[in-house]
Amino acid sequence: MQDYYYGNSKKMFEKENYKIPLDKFINNALYHPKNGYYMQKFPFGKKGDFITAPNISNIFSEMIFLWLISYWQKFHTKRNINIVELGAGNGEMMFQIINSAKKFTKFYNKCNFSIYEKSNKLIKSQKEKLKKHKVTWIKNLDKLKNNPTIFFGNEFLDALPIKQFINYDNIWYERCIEKKGGVYNFTKIRCDIKKIEKKINLKISKKQKFLEISFEEFKIIQKLNNIITKKGGCILLIDYAYTNKKMFDTLQAVKNHRKVNVLEEVGSSDISHMININFLKKYSNKINLKVDHNTQREFLLNLGIMNRAEILAAKTSFLEKANIFYRVNRLIDKKQMGELFKVMYFYKKNQKFKLGFK
Ligand SMILES: C[S@@+](CC[C@H](N)C(=O)[O-])C[C@H]1O[C@@H](n2cnc3c(N)ncnc32)[C@H](O)[C@@H]1O
Repeated sequence: MQDYYYGNSKKMFEKENYKIPLDKFINNALYHPKNGYYMQKFPFGKKGDFITAPNISNIFSEMIFLWLISYWQKFHTKRNINIVELGAGNGEMMFQIINSAKKFTKFYNKCNFSIYEKSNKLIKSQKEKLKKHKVTWIKNLDKLKNNPTIFFGNEFLDALPIKQFINYDNIWYERCIEKKGGVYNFTKIRCDIKKIEKKINLKISKKQKFLEISFEEFKIIQKLNNIITKKGGCILLIDYAYTNKKMFDTLQAVKNHRKVNVLEEVGSSDISHMININFLKKYSNKINLKVDHNTQREFLLNLGIMNRAEILAAKTSFLEKANIFYRVNRLIDKKQMGELFKVMYFYKKNQKFKLGFK
């Protein structure tokens, strides 16, 4: 059955004639130390390949700040708190959040701000952007101070590598990539889906013809769950996500703000996928982690994004007003990011918190 080779997958960019599972391929395409997309490119903004919510409007980060401080106020006012961003990109969201926090000294003085980031190139630019702010970068989450911890992240889960499994005539295959003559192609190998299910302790293949699973996502959710179980706290994630029971192929690559073929721009395009909330909830519930979710649109409207936009626009020129509302609209419009993106709140029993999730 094991007819592919993981072997030198680190040499994906140089080697020929091999097959690797999709998750190894994605990991290399994005994080190969020399050629990986996030290790050599600066993907964000107009001149990059894609634009994320914190880079569309500062008000997005202000709303996340509002949520963080409200959570702290409800559960942990008397304690210091770790505020940890997962996958901070160009550091824009953390920058805005700390700027807002500084206006609330009581809260600010209790906060330890940290970033958990994989790309050394991005860490460098985050450090530059945040040089006037008190932030630490952590590679090992076990080293966090012994305080309640709020983990938050925008487009973090959707950037993690996935595996894909396909059922043809009641036989399950794992999707792999092979490289021959410098060209990458999809291929498949037969697999034992029961072994996969055993690994995640979930029976998921029944009634499905296609599965997308990220072991890295499970690993990290489990890790964060262990931390908040011990120290207290929660997780707030905003991702490109869907709620259908049936899974489908959501793998995509983006370059210069356009979708491109995943196998044609390897190392120069961003590869991502959509989170299946239904599946993520099942997995989280198994480890006693509850998950509430809402669309980005409803979450931001509940937090008062329109009021904030009106306040900011009140004293500005017509052009600036139009700009503020144009950007807010991109975040909440049903046909733009409003419904495609979901906000997920992961919490332990007795930590129900409805702000943004009513
Ligand atoms: C799509 S970008 C989003 C960046 C930023 N949050 C934003 O909204 O602009 C994904 C981020 O997650 C980071 N990342 C991906 N996998 C990671 C991992 N396993 N550990 C830490 N950071 C990771 C990437 O390097 C990048 O900073």
